Amino acid sequence: MTVKQAPHQGHLSRIRVGLADRSYPIYVGRQLFQQLPQLLPNLPKQLCIVTNAVVAAHYLANVRDQLGPQHDVLVHEIADGEHAKSLTTYGEIMDSLIAHSFNRDCAIIALGGGVVGDIAGFVAATYQRGVDFYQLPTTLLAQVDSSVGGKTAINHPGGKNLIGAFYQPQSVIISTDCLATLEQRDYACGLAEVVKYGIIYDADFFAWLEANQQKLNARDAQALNYAIQRSCQIKADIVAQDEREQGLRALLNLGHTFGHAIEAEHYATWRHGEAVAAGTMIAAEYMRQQDQLSATAVERIEVLLQAFALPTRAPRLSEVQWQQRMYRDKKVQAGELRLVLPTGIGAAELRTVTDWPSVWSAIAAMTESSR
Ligand SMILES: NC(=O)c1ccc[n+]([C@@H]2O[C@H](COP(=O)([O-])OP(=O)(O)OC[C@H]3O[C@@H](n4cnc5c(N)ncnc54)[C@H](O)[C@@H]3O)[C@@H](O)[C@H]2O)c1
Ligand SMILES: [Zn+2]
Repeated sequence: MTVKQAPHQGHLSRIRVGLADRSYPIYVGRQLFQQLPQLLPNLPKQLCIVTNAVVAAHYLANVRDQLGPQHDVLVHEIADGEHAKSLTTYGEIMDSLIAHSFNRDCAIIALGGGVVGDIAGFVAATYQRGVDFYQLPTTLLAQVDSSVGGKTAINHPGGKNLIGAFYQPQSVIISTDCLATLEQRDYACGLAEVVKYGIIYDADFFAWLEANQQKLNARDAQALNYAIQRSCQIKADIVAQDEREQGLRALLNLGHTFGHAIEAEHYATWRHGEAVAAGTMIAAEYMRQQDQLSATAVERIEVLLQAFALPTRAPRLSEVQWQQRMYRDKKVQAGELRLVLPTGIGAAELRTVTDWPSVWSAIAAMTESSR
């Protein structure tokens, strides 16, 4: 994995996801949609842009203009929100590609957040057994997490992301100026994943986040650029070593087993990043109670999450609710819970946990108004 500054492109940086013949670049910089012809010189004639009305209102015209008249551009707008990541929407996009006689040489372009990226990626993975795919992520979460690494999926009434494929894009173009229009809560949720990278992988990055929290809250362009670049480098590093989540990649799920339980029980009020933040605190507290993480480290994590306006206490759920939700996690093997647990700032491990009372003790300590 390398990071190069391209001298003629101002602030453009290039990060490589090293996956042999499926390697691809991630470009990070400002106003990158204005440079699409240079960044994507080999696009095929037929292009389908998958987006939604919110994102389209801000960015679609620009992207279309840049692609130029030499392409047949089909735009498919899906509904806004997680519910759009459905079999129905997937079928509608397929219908549209077939109705417009899109062939195997076409490409799918995802312009939007993680919802658009996940469903567009799954369309690309499966249309005519796979066509080229480009990610133009527009939320912070998509820019630091979902657009990189090739997980694509749609939801089923029986659960989230139950239908999907590993399918890497041809490239990812991260235009950081898109974040100016993002709602505050969505922005904070992206920061929860940024903090995650610091905790599991990079103590220096965590310290940098502590030192630059005000700049990040102000969406300072330079600070954001660095935070996104570093997050993508870490994700690229991890994915290059463990594309299919046999081990290392599971660390990206820090706080997520707890977080998914919160999200499932409080779907309408808790966002993913918020639930992950509260879940991260439970994982840290668990390790503190086991004497495997210092109280200072737990405190630093809490202070940083709070600085980014993220919740650090879980909502009240019953012990049964927690247990039922957590044992449905994809990491559960042979009925045993496996948790990502921080062993310090900058390091984490995936461990099998058999002692539920200890887990419950950490949950109880990190639940709202339990202090
Ligand atoms: N594939 C992966 O590896 C991976 C990783 C993490 C999350 N995900 C998935 O990502 C999804 C969540 O993604 P998300 O948090 O980006 O949510 P999202 O795609 O729903 O976007 C959040 C909101 O922001 C709006 N929006 C997008 N870009 C905007 C912009 N530039 N300005 C203003 N508004 C904008 C969207 O319309 C939406 O209302 C979930 O479905 C989750 O499962 C996937
Ligand atoms: Zn997440």
